[in-house]
Amino acid sequence: MRTSLNRLLYLLPAVFSLASSLENCSSAALCPRILADSNRDGLVNELDSNDRRTWTLDRGATFLPNVGDGASRCPVLDLVGDPLSNAELSRCHDASGDRLLSPRFAAPLSTSPIPDISPDAIGRIYADTERVRIFWKHGGVGVNATDHFSGVSDEWALVDQQLSFNASSLRNGIALALDGRELVTDPDIWDGQVKVFFEIKSRNETAQDSVVLKQAPVLLHHHLQRPEVVLSTAPGDPATSNIYNPASPWQAHFIQQLQDTLGADTNFTLFHQDVDIWAQDFFEPAYASMPGPNGTIIALRILLRSAQSTRAAGRQVFTQIRGPGIGALQPPPGSGFGHEEINSGGNIETIPPYVSRSEKSWPNGRIIMGKHFGIPPADAMVRFLQSQGNGGQSPLFLEAGWLAIGHVDEFVQFLPSSSSLTNFTIAVADTRSALGLLINIQAAGHGDIPAVSYDGDITPDARTLFLDTELVRNTTISGLLLDESLLAANEYAQQHIDDNLALLLEEIPLREEDILRVPVLFKEVTLTLPATPDGLPPVLDRGGRKVVSVFPNAVNGLVLGKRYIAPKQWGPVVDGVDVLAEAVEGVYTSVDMSVEFIDDYMSHHVRGGEVHCGTNTFREMGRWW
Ligand SMILES: *[C@@H]1O[C@H](CO)[C@@H](O)[C@H](O)[C@H]1NC(C)=O
Ligand SMILES: *[C@@H]1O[C@H](CO)[C@@H](O)[C@H](O)[C@H]1NC(C)=O
Ligand SMILES: *[C@@H]1O[C@H](CO)[C@@H](O)[C@H](O)[C@H]1NC(C)=O
Ligand SMILES: *[C@@H]1O[C@H](CO)[C@@H](O)[C@H](O)[C@H]1NC(C)=O
Ligand SMILES: *[C@@H]1O[C@H](CO)[C@@H](O)[C@H](O)[C@H]1NC(C)=O
Ligand SMILES: *[C@@H]1O[C@H](CO)[C@@H](O)[C@H](O)[C@H]1NC(C)=O
Ligand SMILES: *[C@@H]1O[C@H](CO)[C@@H](O)[C@H](O)[C@H]1NC(C)=O
Ligand SMILES: *[C@@H]1O[C@H](CO)[C@@H](O)[C@H](O)[C@H]1NC(C)=O
Repeated sequence: MRTSLNRLLYLLPAVFSLASSLENCSSAALCPRILADSNRDGLVNELDSNDRRTWTLDRGATFLPNVGDGASRCPVLDLVGDPLSNAELSRCHDASGDRLLSPRFAAPLSTSPIPDISPDAIGRIYADTERVRIFWKHGGVGVNATDHFSGVSDEWALVDQQLSFNASSLRNGIALALDGRELVTDPDIWDGQVKVFFEIKSRNETAQDSVVLKQAPVLLHHHLQRPEVVLSTAPGDPATSNIYNPASPWQAHFIQQLQDTLGADTNFTLFHQDVDIWAQDFFEPAYASMPGPNGTIIALRILLRSAQSTRAAGRQVFTQIRGPGIGALQPPPGSGFGHEEINSGGNIETIPPYVSRSEKSWPNGRIIMGKHFGIPPADAMVRFLQSQGNGGQSPLFLEAGWLAIGHVDEFVQFLPSSSSLTNFTIAVADTRSALGLLINIQAAGHGDIPAVSYDGDITPDARTLFLDTELVRNTTISGLLLDESLLAANEYAQQHIDDNLALLLEEIPLREEDILRVPVLFKEVTLTLPATPDGLPPVLDRGGRKVVSVFPNAVNGLVLGKRYIAPKQWGPVVDGVDVLAEAVEGVYTSVDMSVEFIDDYMSHHVRGGEVHCGTNTFREMGRWW
């Protein structure tokens, strides 16, 4: 009995009317059927035959943009040894040719065997967009997921418009693989959906079937995902050091401490092709994933270069990090030219998964970005993030224009917390507790101790824009509290923090009492920016009053599960205890996090950022479906 179930179904349409109506048969013997992993179990089989011609958030096959560099073949220099342009750099990846270089990242499809097909029959397979590639497997028979995902590239050949499949292929069934040639950057151009047609012609008859797939959304990480790799920037080579890109002993000091704190068990990667120390800012790590067999997840990292075209450090996502399983995005042209701080990765953070107060579910969390008094971040990046479909994380905009640098990571942070219903809570910078702490110290009779306890070298260089010698060396707590402009600056900052928190709490169902308030004191600044060699300085000044943190900004640290790597506070020391550090630690330990301080005073704090700005993390890549 070699009669397949399929054949039975086709021969008995009256009995199996439901199943039969799902097919698109011209006659009993001419019944093409193409399947993909519509039920998202990582396999292509009978269970995928229902509802495969429409795609919803709950059902429908997905595929990945195959933009890694599996064989590390993509060049970074042209034939005469000059660096490639940004556009050229991004043009090369595994899906940029006609060979399937990384079958692991291609989605499986197959046509069902048609045992009774007439010998003259001819089949064609094609998609309704050229933004995907379809491959067929030489000698591939039927459906075998193990086979598919272990397939070596030479077994796969491109299915082009001219290719037709003969009757013996159609009889056996054809194993197929599909991947995306590009990222979805604008839904008006392409929303990531593709319809794949399977058409058979036999004598005077034609029959056609189809299946719909959609490209997986590109998602940003959130802090509840397990960290896998910590990244920062190598201290630089003194041999190539210059005033604009100095090899930095401060960065060496920072990296040493970070390395010691992370320990040997943490993957730690240093950018080494550019001395830009702001590893948080010149890119944003993301990923795309699809179901693999047996509950596994097949995922590809996609590093989003910041929309700052003259920030050379961003090129490292292509020139240093791209490789097997890691691809990158060059933001599309149209905005983000130059180097505006609003477009840094530190101005892009992610709320962990939640259901909003209005009951909208954000199963992958939701992005927050800062605008600067009505000016939004680069349209190209915003559109890209908004384009990732309903499964995506469409950004919520906060106000960050009141900060000299203007990044959301300077005042808000999401922390794992088992005590809240959402599994996370919000930490915000808080000037009230910072001022209260200083007032208490003064009231206890210690008003004349130095406010800042940093006692190391404070030799300035071209980038120590926010170094305040008078503050570090010559300001007491009472002196600080007497400064009316400081009090006014903190009122101003607090107003913006309160407004931003209110916006978040309108959305996220956390209670006031769940919110962590991290003591941070601000002061107002006016800036004179140094010129850069290309005459295009980072643009900070968008108008309005600007503040920076007085002490290293404690909310701007690195969250690694329950570990928190925070900037060493250098707060007032009373009876041998840094009172500010103690208060900061108390806030984080209230949600069972352990705080480890590292000194970033000269390496980052006086340059406009902290530990978080100087680092980045690749985290576990989860399922979105
Ligand atoms: C799935 O798991 C089963 C049982 O553990 C195993 O026999 C099978 O080989 C696995 N298949 C794949 C494709 O990994
Ligand atoms: C699938 O292919 C693998 C590798 O070629 C083979 O070991 C396995 O037996 C096949 N499974 C089925 C169900 O045909
Ligand atoms: C049908 O196509 C397959 C795959 O290209 C090929 O191996 C086979 O020889 C062809 N059969 C005939 C009868 O042409
Ligand atoms: C095709 O031809 C056969 C016999 O030659 C005929 O019975 C059948 O109705 C035709 N089908 C179509 C769709 O014209
Ligand atoms: C069924 O086949 C017809 C004729 O080829 C085609 O127009 C139609 O789109 C097919 N339906 C589906 C759902 O593929
Ligand atoms: C180190 O990185 C690899 C590759 O990204 C990952 O599989 C592994 O889990 C990481 N190790 C730790 C301890 O996070
Ligand atoms: C919180 O985490 C637990 C354990 O991982 C999980 O079962 C639960 O669904 C999570 N709750 C929310 C609201 O995500
Ligand atoms: C410290 O402050 C005093 C009084 O404001 C001033 O006279 C002195 O020059 C300052 N010293 C330094 C090192 O800034």
